[in-house]
Amino acid sequence: MSPDSIEAPPRVSINELAQHDGQMVTLYGWLYGKRSGGKVVFLLVRDGTGLCQCVVEAAQPEAFRVAETVGQESSMIVSGRVRNEPRAPGGWELAVTGLHVLQSAENYPISRKAHGVDFLLNHRHLWLRSPRQVALLRIRHTLMTAARQFFDALGFTLIDTPILTPGAAEGAGTLFSVDYFGEPIYLTQTGQLYLESACMALGKVYCFGPTFRAEKSKTRRHLTEFWMLEPEVAFAELPDLIELAESLVVRLVAAVLERHPADLALLGRDPAPLKKIVPPFPRLTYTEAVDLIQSAAVRESVEQQIEEDRQRLNSLIAEVADLEKEKAAARKGWQVDKFEQQIRERRDILQDLETDLRHRQEHLPETFAFRWGGDLGADEEAILSRQFDRPVFVTEYPRQAKAFYMKPAPHDPRVVLNMDLLAPEGYGEIIGGSQREDQVDALQSRINEEGLDPADYEWYLDLRRYGSVPHGGFGLGLERALAWICGLRHIREAIPFPRMIGRITP
Ligand code: 4AD
Ligand code: MG
Repeated sequence: MSPDSIEAPPRVSINELAQHDGQMVTLYGWLYGKRSGGKVVFLLVRDGTGLCQCVVEAAQPEAFRVAETVGQESSMIVSGRVRNEPRAPGGWELAVTGLHVLQSAENYPISRKAHGVDFLLNHRHLWLRSPRQVALLRIRHTLMTAARQFFDALGFTLIDTPILTPGAAEGAGTLFSVDYFGEPIYLTQTGQLYLESACMALGKVYCFGPTFRAEKSKTRRHLTEFWMLEPEVAFAELPDLIELAESLVVRLVAAVLERHPADLALLGRDPAPLKKIVPPFPRLTYTEAVDLIQSAAVRESVEQQIEEDRQRLNSLIAEVADLEKEKAAARKGWQVDKFEQQIRERRDILQDLETDLRHRQEHLPETFAFRWGGDLGADEEAILSRQFDRPVFVTEYPRQAKAFYMKPAPHDPRVVLNMDLLAPEGYGEIIGGSQREDQVDALQSRINEEGLDPADYEWYLDLRRYGSVPHGGFGLGLERALAWICGLRHIREAIPFPRMIGRITP
């Protein structure tokens, strides 16, 4: 069969098969896997919309001969009749009548055997094809479109802020410098300052683009390039921003639950905790949060959590030992592969859990001794976020712990009118935002206090000279949100091509 032969049945995608029961169709895709059973070869074909079992019988000698030898990830065009098969992935299969291989692939490096994370990251350009990665990319896309629809429906205008910037907005420590015709400039850490300018023109604006932070430590929640969704609103105060962030997060989670039940199942993500993401989210001031961290009740629950995790660790170790035995007893190659894969998965979880436990135990005294004044770190956030089954807003942090542009609280100038939103299940901060300083003198003295060059911020001060109004906004880290919603252990899978310290390729 040639791809453009006149008789070729109509092209459909795999997720449309149910609408073509009993009909002849053509699929365009790649070979994901294969199984043969004497007089029949089962080709598992993927096309980006799903997986389809394509059954090639010896009675179709030409197709059968090709099917027997064709390798994983070969590209192909397959025709046949659609039929119901409850045991096949998706519930439909194709009784093949024609098989045309576009390119025959050999020795595809990612087999269904076990692979380590470094190997997979080095092959990210191919790893993206695996069903798990496809599911994540689809959910990421939904978060992006749902976020845009959310703001568009509220009358916000999308503004694209620059990536090349002259100075810091979120601290000089994480700036990436770029040579700009001999002048040092920086990759943007946030679109916020420019959005503040645009919100004085349009009222309600948002940006959604890549941002950069030279994070010098390897963590499970930091990327050096990540996407941030930032709204900025004129005539808005902190409570308005909290309300906006709450409805945004509720909408995003609902969109994923609505559109991706199958993808969540494939990821092994239990939807139950996501169904609890309804308003109102709990709200705590920073001062209350510190009291909570220092309380006996929380100390007890943290110790209990550590004990539970230790038990989980032990049962995982036992599971791995059992699987090793089963692997040793396995006769067939595919059984060995299957056990190896399961062992590898558990070992990966084990390794993370072990590191996590060790870290938490080591930092426990420090965490319990946490005193009013510092920014909440990952450990404190994780503890707080485990106390609630919904995201929690923490507001009014100490001024010295936060950025220069935040407005001090009128009732207590030691704290600022800011909020962080901590995701549950230990995920921690997914949103950071604030009401902005709108008085020119106060902003000027903060710029001086921070040792920033006032000349760089003249234009920003102008926004306070010409029609200043109370305003503010926040930033949601797309990958942090995706990692939480999908239950990922590490942020690296939440972006197509992750950039982290020590990782820039492919
Ligand atoms: O809290 P941050 O630093 O806030 C800002 O940049 C403000 N200018 C936003 C605003 O008010 N318009 O960052 C906001 C969010 C964090 O809550 C987190 O979700 C994400 O951006 N984020 C990161 N995500 C991945 N890797 C990193 N290195 C991140 N740094 C921040
Ligand atoms: Mg923050």
